[in-house]
Amino acid sequence: MIETELCETLGMKYPIMQAAMGPYDTMDLAIAVTNAGGFGNVSHPAPSEEMMADLLAGRNLQAVFDNVKEKMGDALSKVKKEADGHFGLNLRVAPEQPEVPGLLDMIIEMRESDPELKDKLVLIITSAGDPAQPHLQKIKQAGMTWFHNVPSVYHARKAEQAGVDGLIATGYEAGGHVTFFPVHTMVLVPEVVKAVNVPVVGGGGICDGKGLVAALAFGTVGIYMGTRFIATQESEFSRKSKETIITGAERFGKENATLVTQGFFGPLRHMRNKFSEELARLKDGGASEVEMLKFEIKGSQLAFGPTEDIENGALWCGQVAIRLDDIPTAAEVIEGIMSEAEETLKELSDSYL
Ligand SMILES: Cc1cc2nc3c(=O)[nH]c(=O)nc-3n(C[C@H](O)[C@H](O)[C@H](O)COP(=O)(O)O)c2cc1C
Repeated sequence: MIETELCETLGMKYPIMQAAMGPYDTMDLAIAVTNAGGFGNVSHPAPSEEMMADLLAGRNLQAVFDNVKEKMGDALSKVKKEADGHFGLNLRVAPEQPEVPGLLDMIIEMRESDPELKDKLVLIITSAGDPAQPHLQKIKQAGMTWFHNVPSVYHARKAEQAGVDGLIATGYEAGGHVTFFPVHTMVLVPEVVKAVNVPVVGGGGICDGKGLVAALAFGTVGIYMGTRFIATQESEFSRKSKETIITGAERFGKENATLVTQGFFGPLRHMRNKFSEELARLKDGGASEVEMLKFEIKGSQLAFGPTEDIENGALWCGQVAIRLDDIPTAAEVIEGIMSEAEETLKELSDSYL
């Protein structure tokens, strides 16, 4: 069986992590992944729809932050109760997330007062901001493992200097936030591994056992997958969005299935649809930041709201969508990856050694 240093560090059977995918819920998904021997992560929540209007208007901010805390607290309680092993959570630490210091304090206090949570919640993955912010040291002081998600060698070195225990390096083919510098997993991951002395997990464009073998060959200790896990039975993403991800490539031709837009939230990889094409047009037409923000928030609500409007909604997903054609359970994904990885290693060894 393939077991890496990551399995020991985080205490799971297989070196497969489910990526955090805020602002969307990934509680059921995290439970399913952890229970299948992988490592599930709770995502950084957004405020509720009513609170979003306050956030946009810059009013009642304390109530908005309290709402995010409450959602994170509920998510941790649920996953703790139903997951049979270890799990983690993501905090986006950009300046646009001023709730993070208070949220982190709440998480640590919650963990200190609940032995079961303390035992199961072992990892915080920070992302999308500067890991050198002093309050983030509290993660290690609380005895938790701290990983940071990086899109470049520069950011990897910075995170290592800040004291993280590990890195997740995700290339430009990833779903959701990507960088301004389009460096893909095949180039990024081995360079990050070479540049730092902490363990590195590889992500962006991985969906199968061959991807796991490639990531291990590059010197990583495991893989981090978002898009593959969206299209699983247990994930909270809407049925229609899962179906669109696995069939979307047919509409635009495989290589054209996703689109990176530069809206209010920076570069984001979406499924190509009316929403993402319109967002790209808004940007090209010089729309203001606020206009783009409102358009993007509406898009997120449409795709995953009751109407499941997948044409006018924001469907963040990675290029690897074009390789997906089924909606299995998380356990089937994980078992499939592990058996394919073992077969691939054996075939390679039989063929070339
Ligand atoms: C719908 C969606 C939401 C995401 N939200 C976040 C987030 O809140 N924080 C974060 O660090 N990364 C986020 N990401 C990026 C993932 O954590 C991960 O890096 C990416 O999905 C890996 O590439 P893959 O989709 O090709 O597997 C998101 C990705 C998707 C698809």
